[in-house]
Amino acid sequence: MRRAAPVAAALVILSEAALALDDGGYDWPLPDWMPRPPVPEDNPMSAAKVALGRHLFYDSRLSGDGTVACASCHDPARAFTDGRETAVGIHGTVGNLNAPQLANVAYLPVNAWANPHMTSLEFQALVPLFGEAPDEMGATGQEDRIFATLAADPYYAEGFARAFPDRPAPDLFTVTRALGAFQRSLMSFDSPYDRFKYGGDLDALSDAAKRGEQLFFDHRFECYHCHQGVLFTDNFQREGSPWVETGFHNTGLYAEYPASAPGRIEITGEPGDAGLFRTPSLRNVAVTAPYMHDGSIPDLRAVLAHYARGGREGHANQDGMIVGFDATEAEIDDIIAFLESLTDETFLTNPDHADPWPADHPARINRADP
Ligand code: HEC
Ligand code: HEC
Repeated sequence: MRRAAPVAAALVILSEAALALDDGGYDWPLPDWMPRPPVPEDNPMSAAKVALGRHLFYDSRLSGDGTVACASCHDPARAFTDGRETAVGIHGTVGNLNAPQLANVAYLPVNAWANPHMTSLEFQALVPLFGEAPDEMGATGQEDRIFATLAADPYYAEGFARAFPDRPAPDLFTVTRALGAFQRSLMSFDSPYDRFKYGGDLDALSDAAKRGEQLFFDHRFECYHCHQGVLFTDNFQREGSPWVETGFHNTGLYAEYPASAPGRIEITGEPGDAGLFRTPSLRNVAVTAPYMHDGSIPDLRAVLAHYARGGREGHANQDGMIVGFDATEAEIDDIIAFLESLTDETFLTNPDHADPWPADHPARINRADP
């Protein structure tokens, strides 16, 4: 990433000891070609808030039994996915949906596979914390105990005061806002493809990936209709967006989608919404297997096979762009090489996103990691 040196320095400083430094503003870790994401008026970004949110994200004491943190299902080395087909929460509860990646999540107007009303990160955090279908963190009824535990931690005593000088107590307002700020800081724009496409480094991509790029944007394959724009999804908003794009489609995975994950119809009740899911971003997709809303496709080659046959099973609501195609093995290899060029190693190993807690700290000692 073409991250300006002072920004990098500021981010390093704030990661642990930087509580000494009270900064009001926030330097986005963005390359100059990328616009800023929108930020809710009631949750302005600050370095102190991002640092606090990072600690909360990795803190399993936010869960009902102290074993599940956000990071238990969102692992930075996998672009904040968990490697499982569907997520596993508290008491081993197996959910119905695959944990999505969190790279560039600030630009996504909808933060769910199928719920078009889930339109803010602050609100989204309530789902894993308090949701009961499925149980993820099981915090319902435990709020007072959890917030008291946080208040008693010396890191948080200072961290909340820095981030929220006007109301420094750990509570739902401050916890969800700090988590939102941390997640908005998760920017991933330093893949080989970015260096090739936006950085003018023509050697950053292999010949196979360059051929794969042509195929991805070719009418025979139609991938780019839905996986479009800088995030490779038709879901996008930026600072000052005059409108937001929200793309949901049925790709024909099932002839009948199961009641456990029926698509947008679950929320809207509209038959036309059966099997419709939000188009996922393809950035870092090579490290986020297994794929689709229910993790039912194990690898990228199998995803291509699903599209090649025009939908794994086919569905009445299937999108008109999913019609199937003939491709040689070499062409499939090239498309996969292109998808692999979207992996941003800087993002996957970014120390600013890593677990900030010492190994023996109560925030992490009982944490289930993916
Ligand atoms: C038990 C596993 C699990 C835990 C714990 C968990 N998540 Fe998730 N997360 C998921 C799943 C599954 C989804 C998809 C939910 C949906 O689409 O309705 C998701 C979706 C999200 C999204 C939407 C991403 C997008 O693409 O827009 C965000 C943001 C998120 N989680 C943040 C968090 C935060 C913050 C925490 C901690 C407070 C957390 N998650 C805890 C499994 C988990
Ligand atoms: C009509 C819109 C549309 C088209 C065309 C399309 N996709 Fe998708 N893609 C989606 C949607 C929607 C999903 C999620 C579907 C689900 O989970 O049920 C998805 C999922 C994926 C995934 C899994 C990502 C993840 O994180 O789980 C990959 C990889 C993918 N598509 C690649 C491609 C490629 C390559 C092509 C071209 C051959 C293509 N897509 C064409 C809409 C589309």
